[in-house]
Amino acid sequence: MKNQGSALPIENAIEKAIELLRKGEVVAIPTETVYGLAADALNSEAVARLFELKKRPKIDPVIVHCYGASHVFAFVRNLPEPARLLATTYWPGPLTLVLEKKDSIPDIVSAGLPFAGFRVPKHPLTLKLIEKLGRPLAAPSANRFGKISPTTAQAVFEEFNHLIPLILDGGPCPVGIESTVISFAHDPPLLLRYGAITKEEIEKRIGPLTVPAPNTAWNLAPGRFPKHYAPSVPVEIISSLSEIPYWKRKNAGLIFWGREETSGFKVVKNLSKEKSLIEAAANFFQMLRELDKSSIEKIYALLLPEEGLGKAINERIKKAAGSSSP
Ligand code: TXA
Ligand code: MG
Repeated sequence: MKNQGSALPIENAIEKAIELLRKGEVVAIPTETVYGLAADALNSEAVARLFELKKRPKIDPVIVHCYGASHVFAFVRNLPEPARLLATTYWPGPLTLVLEKKDSIPDIVSAGLPFAGFRVPKHPLTLKLIEKLGRPLAAPSANRFGKISPTTAQAVFEEFNHLIPLILDGGPCPVGIESTVISFAHDPPLLLRYGAITKEEIEKRIGPLTVPAPNTAWNLAPGRFPKHYAPSVPVEIISSLSEIPYWKRKNAGLIFWGREETSGFKVVKNLSKEKSLIEAAANFFQMLRELDKSSIEKIYALLLPEEGLGKAINERIKKAAGSSSP
């Protein structure tokens, strides 16, 4: 059931979601980044159900979503000053901080690590839901493990159709790529996932971050799998369109940006004609998903400039292609 259209007015949908979450069920929620599959973070059984639905290995921890910084702090031991600064600067917003957790957060949430990921999502529906529920929500992206993250309620519906009782429809996710993940399990802090807030921006506030080398830090961030965000159609990164002869374009899709000549491809997705990184991020997963649904044999991808959000989008393109990185 979705609350789309006139199916269920939004207040009723929130009440329904609360009722389901209290019973230990899993519901889908909108955030500013991507849709999440949410369960009561303090209920281990409900979180276990979530892992099961996503087919996610139990070694990959999930993020705890709260309704405000003070709500997060109630579940954290030893808050480092730079973490407090980031929390008060960016929350609600697309930043996840990995912090030492109190015992009230069950071990399944953090995959047995003493540190859990926390964030305050910037979406009015979900903030209201968490505040009214009065409990944090464990929520990974609402896709099956390793697949494309959903940025619309429709995409969640296609993925989990009959498996979950409710999708809260909060419209398309405005940011479109996941939160940046910073771990304070180490000093200096580690950048575990490039995301919507750039490394440069964070370093301006708290000084240098360490970026673990590709394919390392599995013990610190078990989610750093080299293949991720993967469509079922194979993705190949190319460095220029001239590499692809016409005969190869006929049954292929292309994802790129700008105004290059792209004739011959069966399906073309332009992330942003004007080369806006913000627009490209917002379009990325949706366009990848649309390519995946087209009848093509291959998706060719041109990387974006390696700066700011471009870096975060490129990481996702590389993971879709199965090449590794943080
Ligand atoms: O924007 C987002 O962060 C979205 C929305 C729904 O909030 N959520 C999301 O969750 O992307 P997920 O589960 O798809 O990705 C969470 C990432 C994974 O790479 C995971 O390994 C890492 O965060 N992570 C979570 N808890 C962690 C922990 N305790 N230590 C290290 N890494 C952690
Ligand atoms: Mg995910």
